[in-house]
Amino acid sequence: KRKMILDLDTGVDDALAIAYALADPEVDLIGIVSSYGNNLLDVCAENSLKLLELLGHTDIPVFKGLPHSCTTDHFDVMQVSKDIHGDNGIGDVELPAPSRALEEQSGVDFYIEAAHKYGKDLIIIPTGPMTNLAAALKKDPEIADLIGNVTFMGGALTVEGNVTPVAEANINQDPKAADEVMKSNLPLTMVGLDVTLRTLLTKNETKQWRELGTASGKAFADITDFYIDAYYNLDIDKRGCALHDPLAVGVGIDPSFVSTISLFMKVVYEEGPYYGRTIGDNAKLNDPNPNVKVAVNVDKERYLKAFMDRLNKLFKE
Ligand code: BDR
Ligand code: CA
Repeated sequence: KRKMILDLDTGVDDALAIAYALADPEVDLIGIVSSYGNNLLDVCAENSLKLLELLGHTDIPVFKGLPHSCTTDHFDVMQVSKDIHGDNGIGDVELPAPSRALEEQSGVDFYIEAAHKYGKDLIIIPTGPMTNLAAALKKDPEIADLIGNVTFMGGALTVEGNVTPVAEANINQDPKAADEVMKSNLPLTMVGLDVTLRTLLTKNETKQWRELGTASGKAFADITDFYIDAYYNLDIDKRGCALHDPLAVGVGIDPSFVSTISLFMKVVYEEGPYYGRTIGDNAKLNDPNPNVKVAVNVDKERYLKAFMDRLNKLFKE
């Protein structure tokens, strides 16, 4: 079986990404690296521990990542996405305190160790800022040629951003790190707003989880309903919430959920109106080796069916 590492700023849709990865029969989730973003690093890390415990998977290690971007010296509580993910990152649903601690090993070292151990069988799914992955590449550049695939949630090519007209949230947190990852020779697939904003979940689906009558079904329904309400109240989408992060997991396992175009992409990290933009690099227009496959279309019906089949089964247990 292929091995998967998630790199999460756990968050509501990151929580759904954990569930998808656990439920998919084709991969082994071997660890979660924590990031800042939807909330502070420590809160996001604790959310991952709590969710794994809720799902009966205390066997999966959670690693501490870096607490802020590579170009700043802090990430503070004022930068947390409370409106969208709640004060605690998981829709203000209270879950029991975790019964175990984070791993001693750092997330960066775990990346390096796993890359050497599993090589092409390793899939990495960053669904927060790419600070940890960029740091791992800096510490051991060799891993770029070892890892099988990195499918990240972030960026926008054919649509506008969600934090500025050009920037998507994950990329906007650390554009320099994202640019370093883009230029690293890693095999990359971008699952950005181009496809995630079209892949919606509604309360018809969360209702099914609640009706399972299990603790996990109820908690995930409550967590996700907060997110669906936020999309409605903030007028992001009146129909439902975007399945950003779990779509990246699905595509990492089965790339046929999306169609892609290949290009040589860069991230703008210089201050100014284009800060955080993911765009083709004019200097590399004739480069025969494009660095990113960018998802531009999605078979959302097939994906949503796979998503619901997996999560219904997971929450039933
Ligand atoms: C991304 O930003 C975060 O808030 C979400 O968890 C998702 O990873 C969407 O832009
Ligand atoms: Ca996320």
